[in-house]
Amino acid sequence: KKRTAILISGRGSNMQSLVEASRAADYPAEIVLVASNRPEAPGIAWAKAQGLRTAIIDHKHYPSRAVFEGALQAILDEQRVELVALAGFMRLMTPAFVEHWRDRMINIHPSLLPSFKGLHTHERAIEAGVKITGCTVHFVRPEMDEGPIIAQAAVPVLPGDSPETLAARVLAIEHRVYPAALRLVAAGQVPNDQEKVTINQHSGEMNSLF
Ligand code: GAR
Repeated sequence: KKRTAILISGRGSNMQSLVEASRAADYPAEIVLVASNRPEAPGIAWAKAQGLRTAIIDHKHYPSRAVFEGALQAILDEQRVELVALAGFMRLMTPAFVEHWRDRMINIHPSLLPSFKGLHTHERAIEAGVKITGCTVHFVRPEMDEGPIIAQAAVPVLPGDSPETLAARVLAIEHRVYPAALRLVAAGQVPNDQEKVTINQHSGEMNSLF
């Protein structure tokens, strides 16, 4: 099993879905660490209660992004981490850190990338009048919310949706897509020439995983 760390900043519901999926005997990733840059992240309390190894690397205690990442890297090395899954981790990372973890660090974003990168995705999707939105799991690249797409799933935007009702609908599929995507990555089932593979070729694979 691939030794996997999950990085969070808050609630940690996606982290929970990964931890729960990883308990299946045939799941190819093992969660060896849950780390947060915020000491008060509710997800850390949940992870501790599950008996998982946790770490707090409070970015406010470090003089620079690079020093913060050095501390994080030291913990990842100590736990012999092979894969990193960002789950509501709200810190940008330096290109050096991202390149170190190239094709070994994944992220979930609550939109159908490349639409609605950044924050307030649901508000902006409603504002734009799109009728379909969703979530994306992708390999992390230095540019924010960019990188080869591993998996996506779509939900409708319904008349009368608020950012909150839409967020809840998207979150429900995030909890299904992220474990399926981590499974693909940990099992080495994402094609090497991922950058050239279209989303359509992937959707068949994803459908069979649900
Ligand atoms: C999720 O909706 C995730 O997709 C989003 O934050 C939420 C975290 O919830 N991530 C981003 O916006 C990344 N830019 P969670 O802590 O309950 O998993």
